[in-house]
Amino acid sequence: MSENVRGVVAREKGAPVTLETIVIPDPGPGEAKVRIAACGVCHTDLHYREGAINDSFPFLLGHEAAGYVEAVGDDVTHLAPGDYVILNWRAVCGDCRACRRGRPWYCFNTHNARQPMTLEDGTALSPALGIGAFADKTLVAAGQCTKVDRAASPQVAGLLGCGVMAGLGATLNTGNVSRGDSVAVIGCGGVGDAAIAGARLAGARIIIGVDIDDRKLAWAKDFGATHTVNSRERNAVDAIRELTDGHGADVVVDAVGRPETYETAFYARDLAGTVVLVGVPDPAARLELPLIDVFGRGGSLKSSWYGDCLPARDFPMLIDLYMQGRLPLDRFVSEEIGLVDVEAAFDKMHRGEVLRSVVIL
Ligand SMILES: NC(=O)c1ccc[n+]([C@@H]2O[C@H](COP(=O)([O-])OP(=O)(O)OC[C@H]3O[C@@H](n4cnc5c(N)ncnc54)[C@H](O)[C@@H]3O)[C@@H](O)[C@H]2O)c1
Ligand SMILES: [Zn+2]
Ligand SMILES: [Zn+2]
Repeated sequence: MSENVRGVVAREKGAPVTLETIVIPDPGPGEAKVRIAACGVCHTDLHYREGAINDSFPFLLGHEAAGYVEAVGDDVTHLAPGDYVILNWRAVCGDCRACRRGRPWYCFNTHNARQPMTLEDGTALSPALGIGAFADKTLVAAGQCTKVDRAASPQVAGLLGCGVMAGLGATLNTGNVSRGDSVAVIGCGGVGDAAIAGARLAGARIIIGVDIDDRKLAWAKDFGATHTVNSRERNAVDAIRELTDGHGADVVVDAVGRPETYETAFYARDLAGTVVLVGVPDPAARLELPLIDVFGRGGSLKSSWYGDCLPARDFPMLIDLYMQGRLPLDRFVSEEIGLVDVEAAFDKMHRGEVLRSVVIL
């Protein structure tokens, strides 16, 4: 048996997304069918539509979601119909080299549903990040479902499924920000503001938000930036050094992922500081740096995939902090929209009008 539902599909590179009928198989072994309640629009969805991730069109977009388990495969024991879950794209295998070395957040073999979802003509869909949640329902690996407290609304909880977790984890996990640190975050969209919120949670003393858009900088302050820099108006490296007694920041997060923002991050950190790249670069982007500076400035240059999170460890904890009023997750929700509004949400994202548009189902 299978079920037909609505889903937002990117059929070809650069073309507007369309609302299509998609066919969802019943969950097989290790799989779960989830009724989506809310799904945020992430910049990565736009990267998919623009062919910047890979060429496996058509994509079923959407991957920052929360919902309710509707059915599970026969052998699935840790989930039951009705469970309230955030979908994750890190269902660790437990068996690859990274998992066996005790670093499952680097898992090289994360699980997704085995059966494809398809268009009505049978064409297999590529679900964004193995999720595909701009749809009434989706099929995932059971391990992609993380149970959390029902008291958090789906539009808030779903955000932890991707961008907000990536940003929080960029400072909390990858950057290891600790009490008294100075932190700069380049790019204050949903991901960058989450990095700012993470730096605040970790006790950073100075938190500098950098963006080219004043509206974004005002929001960055709401999330805990102590200072902001418009890098269209000022040289960001100079400004960050000035704000840190001439040293540079202990941790600089690049939440844009362009050669020029990376270069800023590289030079805006203190000697032996840390750069965390969380923005996803275009595959064609190239970076040139004097190797002597890479050596001479020391420290570490790290990338953060999904904030180095472990969903089962981090999602319930972050939802608890939200419920206690220590993490303002609801501030990320700029607007609530329908499935038909995803294309318009991409335009708003481009114009910098929103942090997160969240599709409500
Ligand atoms: N590493 C991961 O696991 C992960 C997860 C989710 C998203 N991402 C990536 O993170 C990035 C940000 O995502 P988002 O949803 O916050 O996007 P967004 O569009 O909401 O935010 C990007 C921000 O960067 C600013 N910006 C653009 N160019 C800039 C420049 N040259 N200098 C300074 N600021 C600049 C924009 O004004 C905007 O505020 C994207 O590349 C996305 O694909 C990575
Ligand atoms: Zn693994
Ligand atoms: Zn995302």
